Amino acid sequence: MITIALPKGRLGDKVYGKFAAMGYDCPEITDSSRKLVFEEPAKGVRYLLVKPSDVGVYVEHGAADIGIVGKDVLMEHSPDVFELLDLDIGKCRICVAAKNGWEDDTAVPLRVATKYPNVALAYYESRNRDIEIIKLNGSIELGPVLGLSDVIVDIVETGSTLQENDLSVIAEVARSSARLIANKSSYQFSKQEIDRIVQGFKTL
Ligand code: PRP
Repeated sequence: MITIALPKGRLGDKVYGKFAAMGYDCPEITDSSRKLVFEEPAKGVRYLLVKPSDVGVYVEHGAADIGIVGKDVLMEHSPDVFELLDLDIGKCRICVAAKNGWEDDTAVPLRVATKYPNVALAYYESRNRDIEIIKLNGSIELGPVLGLSDVIVDIVETGSTLQENDLSVIAEVARSSARLIANKSSYQFSKQEIDRIVQGFKTL
């Protein structure tokens, strides 16, 4: 039995379709129930539906053998897992954005609103810029709009959230896409099966 941590939401739905095409189908999962664990013993698979930012935690601790997670989440939390494949979907950019017309005052620490404090700290440390992190968990764009922060470090996909809030990108920190990750000992014990999944993603 292989246990797969899927991020709840659009990315998870898309990736489940690929697992199903590889023979790991579990029709019950497409029901809109509140269940979080779905098992299909005949197919030797169990799915966990988890918060996207928690996938690495489940995989690192062996609660799941493999999982699908954004590179942005891996950069922020650095779980001790194998990153096996870039799935080339769920693409976005981690960017610094500010209100249109904003000008930086390098004499004072920069106030940065973000849900990626580690990524933001590493980025500004490499530029020798002092910052103050304002940790938010969502609607990050409100930071500069309300004057809570000077800039944000956040995910930009289509750019429409920035545009609709009168913000624009001032720097790109990193590019992100979905990754297939594996628990280190699971990969040792189930190498053949996990490698078959890697091949499946490459060819489907
Ligand atoms: C993410 C991100 C941006 C938005 C970017 O938020 O934090 O707000 O998507 O997408 P766009 O460039 O296509 O507009 P999410 O939808 O995850 O909600 P959140 O505000 O709760 O983080």
